[in-house]
Amino acid sequence: MAENKATLSVNNVTAEFDILKGTLGPEVIDIAPLVKCGYLTYDPGFLSTAACESKITYIDGDKGILLYRGYPIDQLAMQSNFVEVCYLLLNGELPNAVIYDEFCKAINRHTMVHEQIRYFFNGFRRDAHPMAVMVGVVGALSAFYHDTLDIKNPEHRAISALRLIAKMPTIAAMCYKYNIGQPFMPPQNHMSYAENFLHMMFATPCEETIPNPVLVRALDKIFTLHADHEQNASTSTVRLAGSTGANPFACISAGIAALWGPAHGGANEAALNMLHEIGDVSNIDKYIKRAKDPNDPFRLIGFGHRVYKNYDPRAKVIRETCYEVLEAVGAKDDPFFKIAMALEKIALEDDYFIQRKLYPNVDFYSGITLSAIGIPTNMFTVIFALARTIGWIAHWNEMISSPYRLSRPRQLYTGPTERKYVRMKERK
Ligand code: CMC
Repeated sequence: MAENKATLSVNNVTAEFDILKGTLGPEVIDIAPLVKCGYLTYDPGFLSTAACESKITYIDGDKGILLYRGYPIDQLAMQSNFVEVCYLLLNGELPNAVIYDEFCKAINRHTMVHEQIRYFFNGFRRDAHPMAVMVGVVGALSAFYHDTLDIKNPEHRAISALRLIAKMPTIAAMCYKYNIGQPFMPPQNHMSYAENFLHMMFATPCEETIPNPVLVRALDKIFTLHADHEQNASTSTVRLAGSTGANPFACISAGIAALWGPAHGGANEAALNMLHEIGDVSNIDKYIKRAKDPNDPFRLIGFGHRVYKNYDPRAKVIRETCYEVLEAVGAKDDPFFKIAMALEKIALEDDYFIQRKLYPNVDFYSGITLSAIGIPTNMFTVIFALARTIGWIAHWNEMISSPYRLSRPRQLYTGPTERKYVRMKERK
């Protein structure tokens, strides 16, 4: 992998470092030996740091490319389905029909949660944010499934992965039902992954609901689009926690906590809240002016992306799906969705946004789509966590299956130099 060398000279010390070449993307300088020269690197926010080697997902933000195991995201979202994508991310190849069938059956064997988990929910306040409940319940899974926690055993890792993929929709729907005070609905194994989730969300024991196939397909695409995004904050958190040898349920719970913030998974909830704040099409100009004002910290949530400086490839797919869902639920003329569509149009035609390449991102459309499906705003990040679980577990498994080291970043210390302890009575 190493072909060339990079040379660094500092204070009469010269050191050579291997330049590593991946299959795609920028070359990487292996600076690990730098510490032997008495220096560290400094890169807050990891803007120039590749923290690991991975074969799972590739992003080219300038070209607007996102590949899962080499397959473009639009092809997977349009032609595959989420369960097949789970198999792909976990195992590296697409399954044939027999293997796919076995994988579906294996997931179905694990869709229920331990009966004690039902009682575990009762410890939470009903009005808690569903993400707060999900972080706790997923972390607690290791207390229920400790028969497969030997992380060095590939079979244990595979069963834990299946359990997580299978149980996340059940837990996510339980978070919702608990919040609104309705009874939990059991999983239906004859339904597809997304259909089963919508059923557990919206059916009740006294009223059967057959989810609308357009909404099922839309949700399945949302799951696929959110399944992985290489070394983002939550995935890096899962890897870091995993590098200590922590069990997979604890690691995924750490990932959920990291996803919660508005700069990451919380953005679609924040985008919807902003649309509610705008309140009326007549107010859009005022908000666009605020977004453009350098002295106003307000930003149009759902526009722009740190990595994609071209159109977010996920936004292209979800935009179309968003329109299909609005049509299917008859919401095209709903005043709220009119605000969203008018905002999209104005921003796409405005010079400020064009020059800065601020396109609507995946969160803008996924928020509107989920809302049109009838999912409340406080469940958006929970659904993101449900979908991203496969990415997290695939990265965790990739790391544990190959040689890895404990992740232990260093620091640039700027605190006090050594000083002597002064007894309290002697202090001024
Ligand atoms: N509204 C108005 N102006 C913006 C926006 C926005 N949403 N985003 C960036 N800008 C301006 C920014 O003020 C700056 O202008 P100038 O050059 O005049 O100073 C210019 O565009 C470049 O901005 P930046 O802050 O350097 O861009 P960034 O790459 O650091 O920020 C971002 C990326 C996502 C944090 C930012 O676009 C933003 O805050 N967007 C709104 C929040 C949002 O939608 N977040 C979800 C992103 S997707 C999350 C995921 O994939 O997990």
